[in-house]
Amino acid sequence: MTHLLELRNISMKFNDTVLFAGFDLDLEINETVGITGPSGSGKSTILRIVVNLLTPTTGTVLFKGVSITEYEPRELRRKMILVPQEASMFPGTVRDNLQWGLSIHKLHASEGKLESALEEVNLNCDCLDDIAGNLSGGEKQRVALARALLLEPEVLLLDEPTSALDEKSTLMVESAIGSIIAERKIGVLIVTHNPAQAKRFTDRLVKITGEQEGK
Ligand SMILES: Nc1ncnc2c1ncn2[C@@H]1O[C@H](COP(=O)(O)OP(=O)(O)OP(=O)(O)O)[C@@H](O)[C@H]1O
Ligand SMILES: [Mg+2]
Repeated sequence: MTHLLELRNISMKFNDTVLFAGFDLDLEINETVGITGPSGSGKSTILRIVVNLLTPTTGTVLFKGVSITEYEPRELRRKMILVPQEASMFPGTVRDNLQWGLSIHKLHASEGKLESALEEVNLNCDCLDDIAGNLSGGEKQRVALARALLLEPEVLLLDEPTSALDEKSTLMVESAIGSIIAERKIGVLIVTHNPAQAKRFTDRLVKITGEQEGK
């Protein structure tokens, strides 16, 4: 069976230190898998390997049955999008930030499409003309999610999406993630330290040791 995403026997060694070895993971469409593990265990490293920003010491990542190294880099970057732990905004407005991802792929979205992307992440702020850098952490995180969604990815990788946020912003971002999972036909990998968050969103939780836990 071909999986949406398949990690096979991934190992990573930095300067002779083995970070993890023999890591396997499958992800299907409409599935959300959590990745958990102590700080420094390599969770962010795994996400970077999946989007081919890092090459693992051993192992293969298959996207729809084909090694990620076979894809044209730009195509891969559109189909699998990593939203990092602290969303970085580029200089300019929210509109500039939303169009930025599209422009890399020589695309452009109408005003209505930008607005509905913001609605999808529950950011009803009428803020397309606001300077993105002035938004709160939770708002930036949701702009980063909207920016990713406009590219219609098939896999969304979320690296501790709420760890830098206060409780109120966490709830807003969680509600955005909940809508994405419910409404989009995608596979989601979410790194989280938060057991309640893992329980709420994930179908399965994978420990970085490779050991799997049911819900
Ligand atoms: N490019 C690199 N070169 C050398 N060491 C690296 C590199 N990238 C990551 N590391 C090391 O690998 C380890 C794991 O890093 P990683 O960021 O994947 O951990 P993490 O599980 O995401 O931790 P946290 O929960 O704190 O975010 C760290 O000790 C880090 O210093
Ligand atoms: Mg990390």
